[in-house]
Amino acid sequence: MKKQVGIEALAIAVPRRYVDIEDLARARGVDPAKYTAGLGAKEMAVADPGEDSVSLAATAAARLIQRNGVDPSRLGMLVVGTETGVDHSKPVASHVQGLLKLPRTMRTFDTQHACYGGTAGLMAATEWIASGAAAGRSAIVICSDIARYGLNTAGEPTQGGGAVALLVSEQPDLLAVDLGLNGACSMDVYDFWRPLGRREAVVDGHYSISCYLDALSGAYRGWRERALAHEVVRWGEKLPGEQLERILYHVPFCKMARKAHTQLRLCDLEDAPGTRDSTPAAREEAAKSSASYEAQVASSLGLNARIGNVYTASLYLALAGLLNGESAALAGKRIGLLSYGSGCAAEFYSGVVGEGAARRMAQTDVEAVLARRERVSVEEYERIMRLSSDAPEQLAPAPGEFRLAEIREHRRIYAAG
Ligand code: HMG
Repeated sequence: MKKQVGIEALAIAVPRRYVDIEDLARARGVDPAKYTAGLGAKEMAVADPGEDSVSLAATAAARLIQRNGVDPSRLGMLVVGTETGVDHSKPVASHVQGLLKLPRTMRTFDTQHACYGGTAGLMAATEWIASGAAAGRSAIVICSDIARYGLNTAGEPTQGGGAVALLVSEQPDLLAVDLGLNGACSMDVYDFWRPLGRREAVVDGHYSISCYLDALSGAYRGWRERALAHEVVRWGEKLPGEQLERILYHVPFCKMARKAHTQLRLCDLEDAPGTRDSTPAAREEAAKSSASYEAQVASSLGLNARIGNVYTASLYLALAGLLNGESAALAGKRIGLLSYGSGCAAEFYSGVVGEGAARRMAQTDVEAVLARRERVSVEEYERIMRLSSDAPEQLAPAPGEFRLAEIREHRRIYAAG
């Protein structure tokens, strides 16, 4: 039997404060429906300088280890996918290793390609284990980011921050990855980027949406070709994409998942045998099916709507949101996952939800993590956004959490709660 490899458990960490998206809309003189219905947002995480990509990554990984009884001596790899690291040389992974006192006998490194960096890390870990090189050891992959466009920008309501830590092993209680089916698509484009030294991203917003959809088409078609060849899906009454129980997308804002799902359906409708019988307009209409979106996508977006964009972690927040609500019903079922990172790279892969998913998700306590957050006013959010990234507020970290305490002689010093 082929080795099973994938995600055994996960844990999340979020900034302690958030702003209500309707409050932000009113403060900007925008109809709140643009942010709620137009973008699909409800709340947006607000990270202060003490909550950087290291502290959020370390908090998520500490939770993962503690709640799942992970034996650190069984770990052989620690990867952090991030595009908002804190140093040009020293990886976030090495800070996390130190803060969590993890063994020296492991590979530690960061992976970067905008929001795709987390999936790059997950696939490096998955394929390392599947190859046999891990010799039974497990990996931790952490996706950690702060999404920041700046005050009064078009991207402002699509900010956010947080981290998702994934335990990757030969016991994929949450998701066994379908090895060898992944489809990838990459292109050299300037849709979203952040030149060295800038805190805020530069973005060509509408172009970034079309790059995402183009790359999705390439990645999905690549996966579909292999999935058809392995008879994981078939052309038939149901389209190949419809044979996946759920599809998770990279979620820069929730409405993007709907656009992505329409595009994926369009790929199937355009390529289906006998497609010449329908008109392009009829196919576009069928691609927009609300019933398909509600059945396959909508239920995964609960956490994304309350946290905002978390770049590398957004797809894995969708996974956490989906499994938090539906892991028992989905056990044994195949789902699809689309990762996108600007610049750009997309990867579509699939996996089967494990029988142990409900038990594992009960350890994550996602609702409790969100319930501890504090809602702040727009004035307070703006004050936090203006704080220097080098001078964190002196707040005590909550029990089990980490915060940047100070930067002394260019060295970052973290406090543990
Ligand atoms: P915008 O131009 O201000 O908004 O910025 P808009 O005019 O396009 O309106 C947005 C939606 O609201 C539209 O819906 C409007 O119709 C609707 P759509 O037509 O798209 O379905 N709308 C309303 N709905 C109800 N009531 C109203 C109302 N008014 C308007 N009154 C934009 C939108 C997303 C461009 C901006 O927020 C932005 O630049 N965001 C950042 C970039 C981004 O998220 N890009 C996504 C794809 S790239 C990606 O995902 C990668 C990324 O995560 C980075 C990485 O890889 O590291 C970003």
